[in-house]
Amino acid sequence: MDYKQLVTDALAPALPDLDPADILAKLEQPKTSKQGDLAFPTFTLAKVLRKAPQMIATDVVEKIDQSNFEKVVAMGPYVNFFFKKDVFSADILNQVLSQADHFGDGKIGEQGQVPIDMSSPNIAKPISMGHLRSTVIGNALANILSKLDYKPVKINHLGDWGTQFGKLITAYKMWGSEEAVKADPINNLLKYYVRFHQEDQEHPEMDDVARDWFKKLENGDEEATELWQWFRSESLKAFKKIYARLDIDFDSYKGEAFYNDKMQEVVDLLESKNLLHESQGAEVVDLSKYDLNPALIKKSDGATLYITRDLAAAIYRKRTYDFVQSLYVVGNEQTNHFKQLKAVLTEMGFDWADQIHHIPFGLITSNGKKLSTRSGRVILLDKVLDDAVDLAHDQIEAKNPDLKDKDAVADAVGVGAVVFHDLKNERMNSFDFNLEEVVRFEGETGPYVQYAHARAESILRKAGSPELATDGQKISDPAAWDTLKLLSEFPATVVRASTEFEPSVVAKYAIHLAKAFNKYYGNTKILVEDDELNARLALVKAVSIVLKEALRLLGVKAPDEM
Ligand code: ARG
Repeated sequence: MDYKQLVTDALAPALPDLDPADILAKLEQPKTSKQGDLAFPTFTLAKVLRKAPQMIATDVVEKIDQSNFEKVVAMGPYVNFFFKKDVFSADILNQVLSQADHFGDGKIGEQGQVPIDMSSPNIAKPISMGHLRSTVIGNALANILSKLDYKPVKINHLGDWGTQFGKLITAYKMWGSEEAVKADPINNLLKYYVRFHQEDQEHPEMDDVARDWFKKLENGDEEATELWQWFRSESLKAFKKIYARLDIDFDSYKGEAFYNDKMQEVVDLLESKNLLHESQGAEVVDLSKYDLNPALIKKSDGATLYITRDLAAAIYRKRTYDFVQSLYVVGNEQTNHFKQLKAVLTEMGFDWADQIHHIPFGLITSNGKKLSTRSGRVILLDKVLDDAVDLAHDQIEAKNPDLKDKDAVADAVGVGAVVFHDLKNERMNSFDFNLEEVVRFEGETGPYVQYAHARAESILRKAGSPELATDGQKISDPAAWDTLKLLSEFPATVVRASTEFEPSVVAKYAIHLAKAFNKYYGNTKILVEDDELNARLALVKAVSIVLKEALRLLGVKAPDEM
């Protein structure tokens, strides 16, 4: 059991007026081990209980069941807990070793389905670092939720519909060639699109042509549909190569186009509830009571919009999955869009609108500048991953030139470094991307955590990979305490990451555990023959299990050697 929970459970009966969650939140780490392993401060209770804090501390100590602890003592205004370290270590090691990668599994999800709208790049454009964030955050949330018995559904809501396809078809018909698209679909399609935007400044008639093509597409015209399908499948092929490198798959690729025939229902519903108003020829839903701009549902030419498709998608997902939560991992810049989406659904009378959560995230900049497709400042993900793998290769070559499977390890380390870096930052924080730092083996990086795991595995190999009893592994050495405590915190960490929708909670935890373990390993001889040898190996094994599982939740591999 979590060492903080153990103390909270001991305190709760002595403090009946306090919510256990408040007790837990108040617990402090004493400055030195002479003051125990965990302390509960009583100052804030003095007012309510009309007693001096010292008195409260003394009273609480008298009321506490101390059997789980070596001792519990009042020290001034604090109640200080000293753990029976050998008992605690045997308990936590038994849990980790016997549950192995199921350690930390939870039941709170009760099999509830959770669609996660993630990645969702736009057809005929490259996947950018921004889409990477959505992809890896969404994937990590899916892993975390699934560990807690939710049923995540990873949905790639492809940007495969909209007026830009009219422009793309127009541009292709003017300058495109089949061979060029086949040879390098994303780059050439992007080139046509960019050129369209350069030339339509001087030739505004191109916009009329483009609008016509999109109309044709919406009406199922054969030529338009064929071209669109071809662009889509070529783009998707390229996207899937990147997903394969990240080892991420999707349960659904139903993009915006899928909702083309489902929007009339939305419009009809809005109409029947008298929510549609005309504004300059367009149809809008007034959202002033939410302090939001009106939601534009239909343009004056009858074309539907991004939000119309999202309304249809939200309703479709509720019907299909009967979700308990519906997540959208989409950049911070679309916050308004998702507020509008929720508000319109609320206006339509769907009480499940409050199960919809936009999970926003900050921008990635490169050398302080924003990355965008229009300005050409795109960092292509494929290239970033290639460079990261090269850097990982260099470091492996320097550190461990005889390693077998060097290529596979460099791949796991390079790709893992990029993913981990993205996830260790709280998602709302913007961050600057510097590849050299990301792939370093020291510091708070993915390779650092992977290396701690590989080191644990190498100790076990050196010890002859013994079968270790799960039970009775007692460690009295105080140097192991930090690592043991952290192991016990893993289950609560996973839960917190799920309620905050914040994979960085798991990433930061992994860094802490790797650091604590490295410190322990640096100060303690593990492979000496004495009474606690097996217990120390059990601790090493437990660290390896939990680091690997934490990395797995983040979508990062943990090679056994590196
Ligand atoms: N395709 C959009 C973009 O790249 C993201 C779509 C997000 N998902 C959604 N349901 N709106 O900006």
